[in-house]
Amino acid sequence: MNKVKMLLVFLLLAFNLVGQAEEQLKTMEPVVIEVYRSPSCGCCSKWLGHLKENQFIVKDHVTDDVKTIKDKYGVPEKLESCHTALVNGYVIEGHVPASDIKKLLKLKPAVIGISVPGMPVGTPGMDMGGRKDAYKVISFDKDKQNKVFSRYEGN
Ligand code: CU
Ligand code: CU
Repeated sequence: MNKVKMLLVFLLLAFNLVGQAEEQLKTMEPVVIEVYRSPSCGCCSKWLGHLKENQFIVKDHVTDDVKTIKDKYGVPEKLESCHTALVNGYVIEGHVPASDIKKLLKLKPAVIGISVPGMPVGTPGMDMGGRKDAYKVISFDKDKQNKVFSRYEGN
């Protein structure tokens, strides 16, 4: 086989693997996610809709004291957002895209959870026309270490 052919075969295999991984995420078993949010939070409800659209089974808990929940589950103050959710032992804080939650459940890193701090415009549930802020999904662990889990470009 010449080099060009080998490269083509390699590329086909690589694309196939990526395709398979994406397929797996789509066909993931439905997962239950427990969400804690305040009753007046409109963007929270929209984020719940985003989760449902992405095959999550949402258990909605309305509370006037989300701060107590955040402290109980170890969300660092600087990573706080509006709502807090629990899924398969992980904590999800704020407007984290469903695709990142699926990635978390697949990779199973040794972290407490992941967060999109604050409420960046353009995150799921924070749609405002076509405007998008650049933002990062940040992981937090029991040693108070933070890492960038994924990043999104703004416009
Ligand atoms: Cu919000
Ligand atoms: Cu919220």
